[in-house]
Amino acid sequence: MITLGIESTAHTLGIGISKNGKILSNAHDIYKPKGEGIIPRKAADHHMDVLPQILTESLSKAQIALDDVDLFSFAQGPGIGAPLSVGCVAAKTLALKYSKPLIGVNHPYAHVKIAESLTKLRNPLILYVSGGNTQILIEEKGKFQVLGETLDVGIGNLFDSFARATKLEYAHGSTLEKLAKGGKYIELPYTVKGMNLSFTGLQTAAIRSLQKHSAKDVSYSLLETSFSMCCEALERALFLTRRKSILLCGGVAQNKRLQQMLKILAKEDKVKFGVSPDEYNRDNGAMIAYTGELLYKKKGTKPIEKWEPEPFQRIDSL
Ligand code: FE2
Repeated sequence: MITLGIESTAHTLGIGISKNGKILSNAHDIYKPKGEGIIPRKAADHHMDVLPQILTESLSKAQIALDDVDLFSFAQGPGIGAPLSVGCVAAKTLALKYSKPLIGVNHPYAHVKIAESLTKLRNPLILYVSGGNTQILIEEKGKFQVLGETLDVGIGNLFDSFARATKLEYAHGSTLEKLAKGGKYIELPYTVKGMNLSFTGLQTAAIRSLQKHSAKDVSYSLLETSFSMCCEALERALFLTRRKSILLCGGVAQNKRLQQMLKILAKEDKVKFGVSPDEYNRDNGAMIAYTGELLYKKKGTKPIEKWEPEPFQRIDSL
């Protein structure tokens, strides 16, 4: 079975193709706002502009034609309404034109499923970290439970807001990581409530600290503090659930310092640790194709016209 998946929940338009669980291609383009956050309308315009080119690229890498696709899938939510609609409409149009089934995929669920497949971890305790989300999850009898999560902003959005305050040209977590290299530690607010986290106090204090300290030192301290918070909450969940492995996934999972901290934590607590290659942690279409196929084979799908984006869809509501 060949599945084409479209990702468009936020700044990335990604189109991936999978065949019987194997990834054939994974093309993408990112909307990069300068000096501002994601403007929904501009993100949607970007996705509409690049969609034909990314579709062509993905098909040619996979060496297939649209006629060969057996199932079309799209990221249904959570995400930003306007860009989400672009992916949904594109997938619906293709499914109708080629008379093939359509399936919507929860974005965090896709991050988890592709990461489980690539790391070969079974029943892990999951730390899902991205722009809008920061969650500690477990799957039990096919249902996801959120054991802990951010009570305000997602960790990735914390980094993006701070990066904008430092006037980085491309305000994104990855640029912050580069800036933080060689920085010195300064104390910042640290807020863990059981297995939940709060980042807004840290965000305000970090931005204020820029008046007294260098952007390098504050960036370094912001990353160290927020990642330590995630580790503390995750370790509490590990002792509670007694899971034998930790899976790190989502866009912020690409951060090498966070990976290093969790590797140390896993070693000390004698559990396995797994993280996917960066290509599958950033937002991507391959994970939507892979997971679309998985869901379709498990439970089929509903008529094309019944599918619509769900900007506030939660993994524990599935
Ligand atoms: Fe994501």
